[in-house]
Amino acid sequence: MKKLLFPLFAIAIACTTTIVSCSKDNEQDITNNNPNPPDGGNNSCDTANMQYTRDVLPIISGSCYSCHGNGNVSGGVSLGNYAGLKTQADNGNLLHVINHDAGYPAMPQGGSKLSDCNINKIRSWINHGALNN
Ligand code: HEC
Repeated sequence: MKKLLFPLFAIAIACTTTIVSCSKDNEQDITNNNPNPPDGGNNSCDTANMQYTRDVLPIISGSCYSCHGNGNVSGGVSLGNYAGLKTQADNGNLLHVINHDAGYPAMPQGGSKLSDCNINKIRSWINHGALNN
């Protein structure tokens, strides 16, 4: 019986060592993961420092001016200049309608919803005060 014990003990130690070294390898892999993947995944929609003229106006003029710009005031709403857009940004309607929130007419009416990226850009601009910049 005593003769059997040592080999079993040795196997037990060998197994434990293998398991410990394995878990260390895993730890190493996690530490070595690149926090900035080369495809730049989460940088694809940059919503920092959004400006009215550079970032927001092109979206609004492209998707909304046919009904709310150039003298068109569908639903009594004009987005054709900064003051008009600012009014809808401040009263909350702008974000609700482009988000297609329940209880608000979905905009652009009859068209497809703005991309998540463009909605996020407008949201970010509003959250930073909807400045005339
Ligand atoms: C095809 C025409 C058309 C387009 C394009 C359009 N709208 Fe509208 N919009 C309307 C009409 C019509 C109403 C009034 C709807 C109603 O009151 O039910 C309206 C109403 C609104 C309102 C007022 C909502 C409220 O609750 O009072 C806002 C804000 C608005 N639109 C924003 C936008 C924005 C932003 C875009 C572009 C992303 C856009 N619209 C594109 C026709 C349009």
